[in-house]
Amino acid sequence: MSLLLEISGLSQRFGGLQALTDFSFQLEEHELVGLIGPNGAGKTTVFNIVSGFYKPTEGNIIFDGRPINGLRPHQITALGIARTFQNIRLWHNMTVLDNLRLARSAKLGYSFWGAVLRTRRYWKEERAIEDRAREVLEMMNLTDCAEKLPKNLPYGLQRRVELARALTTDPRLLLLDEPAAGLNSADADDLIRFIRWIHDKFKLSIWLIEHQMKVVMSLCQHLTVIDFGCVIASGTPEEVRNHPGVIKAYLGDETL
Ligand SMILES: Nc1ncnc2c1ncn2[C@@H]1O[C@H](COP(=O)(O)OP(=O)(O)OP(=O)(O)O)[C@@H](O)[C@H]1O
Ligand SMILES: [Mg+2]
Repeated sequence: MSLLLEISGLSQRFGGLQALTDFSFQLEEHELVGLIGPNGAGKTTVFNIVSGFYKPTEGNIIFDGRPINGLRPHQITALGIARTFQNIRLWHNMTVLDNLRLARSAKLGYSFWGAVLRTRRYWKEERAIEDRAREVLEMMNLTDCAEKLPKNLPYGLQRRVELARALTTDPRLLLLDEPAAGLNSADADDLIRFIRWIHDKFKLSIWLIEHQMKVVMSLCQHLTVIDFGCVIASGTPEEVRNHPGVIKAYLGDETL
């Protein structure tokens, strides 16, 4: 196994609020690991920094041997990091297929002028993009939704479309921000099987944030726990579950 992501000394301040302090983390190729912590601990902030949505106050991020600090979200996607959001962010007035097509075109960075002038190369690229988008939809059992608008789909399917859109960019690292949020217990069980399947089928690394402990404990090989922006524990799910600092941070929270 080789190191895919290496984060060191990451800090993020928002005005007077220290949201993240000296966060360091390493992820190997093909690992499936989790980031947990109470509400407001700074978990999404970590993902927002790694995916280029926030510029950290301090710290370094190396992905596949190259520094990615300060790159914009589309550049980071192009390097092989894709994400989903805590609150689903699909383009709701575009079909499911177009959501996937647009994500892949943005990743490949196809030329504006090609699109305007409709060159032969443009049509060839468009066909290849559509073929890949349809292939991912089929793998994700979403073919019947291709021509539908995401806003008209049940919530669980919208979550799956968001995952499909991320996978259309052929990521090497997938960041999932609370994929089970809003799912009932049976749907969460389906999601666990689904994430495991994606992990094997697409041969990628997955880093997930999740409050539903059933999901975290059954999927993750390793967990990092943060509270008030600081790492308070890391280890196997079993080690973390019995860690006094973690128990204290979650005291009164019945999800643990
Ligand atoms: N863009 C921003 N501007 C100002 N404050 C922010 C911003 N983004 C996050 N914060 C603050 O940083 C802290 C950490 O937020 P973050 O969203 O990372 O927490 P979280 O661990 O993901 O919480 P949750 O489990 O509720 O999703 C919170 O106090 C939040 O209000
Ligand atoms: Mg969050």
